[in-house]
Amino acid sequence: MKKILLLGCGNMGGALLKAWAANTDHLFTVADPAEPELPKNVAQVRSVDELGEDMFDYLVVALKPQLIDRVLPDYLPHLAADGTISSIAAGYSAAKLAAHAPGRSVIRIMPNLPAVIGKGVSGLYAHGSVTETASREIEQLALCSGEIVWVDNEDMLDRLTAVAGSGPGYVFEMLRAYVEAAEALGFDEKDAKTLVLGTVQGALELALGSDRSLEDLRNNVTSKGGTTAAGLAALNGTGEFSDLIRDTLQAAYQRAVELR
Ligand SMILES: NC(=O)c1ccc[n+]([C@@H]2O[C@H](COP(=O)([O-])OP(=O)(O)OC[C@H]3O[C@@H](n4cnc5c(N)ncnc54)[C@H](OP(=O)(O)O)[C@@H]3O)[C@@H](O)[C@H]2O)c1
Repeated sequence: MKKILLLGCGNMGGALLKAWAANTDHLFTVADPAEPELPKNVAQVRSVDELGEDMFDYLVVALKPQLIDRVLPDYLPHLAADGTISSIAAGYSAAKLAAHAPGRSVIRIMPNLPAVIGKGVSGLYAHGSVTETASREIEQLALCSGEIVWVDNEDMLDRLTAVAGSGPGYVFEMLRAYVEAAEALGFDEKDAKTLVLGTVQGALELALGSDRSLEDLRNNVTSKGGTTAAGLAALNGTGEFSDLIRDTLQAAYQRAVELR
């Protein structure tokens, strides 16, 4: 059981805390001036003065990136000598975090939106000499909100952000266009949504539960000269859909590089 101070408990920090408090036996304290809804047994302070002499094994940063330089230094004296800083902030590097606390180990967690329902995919990156125990304990926290992928440099974390961090946005846009197209074929909005979301969920669950490749699964529903073949020829006949998806991920990655 470890003592964990969560710095900032907004949309993402609050959702992760809910999963962490329900699935681990760590002792959590939240530092946030707002009035977040907290799980049972989670303490809250509204300013650093309220912490008294309290010390923590982990300090998890869940602030907006632009607040970190101002707020983090106040709380660092409450991190134990062998404690670890972890951060879920997008676009705030581990090197910048480590610069606030020379000699401390840093682990970045990059969750994506479905983490709020325990179905996220989080990237993990350990900076500096992170102990086995700290890696394992932060990994256990990240696993409370879904799948994890470790990367061994920060550039890969930016690439992961372009794939998974921004991914829900691409998926929502694809679903929106798919529903709009179903409406154009004559369905009202409610039926179009039922058809599209049900189709996507069913296909996704089939893919998740199957050992077959995605190409194989696609070919299996595509008979020569049939309706699916006609649709696929319009969607990606000369590779335009593949190019679009590649450009989408590249653009997001380039933006992450610019924001470093
Ligand atoms: N949301 C996502 O999908 C997502 C995904 C990946 C990573 N992230 C990262 O998660 C971090 C938090 O994002 P979020 O969406 O949860 O933001 P958020 O809802 O604005 O949460 C930030 C929290 O920090 C609080 N805060 C402000 N000043 C503070 C201070 N001096 N001391 C302690 N707490 C303070 C805010 O309170 P007030 O509301 O009163 O200002 C708020 O409750 C960001 O760095 C973001 O990059 C978010």
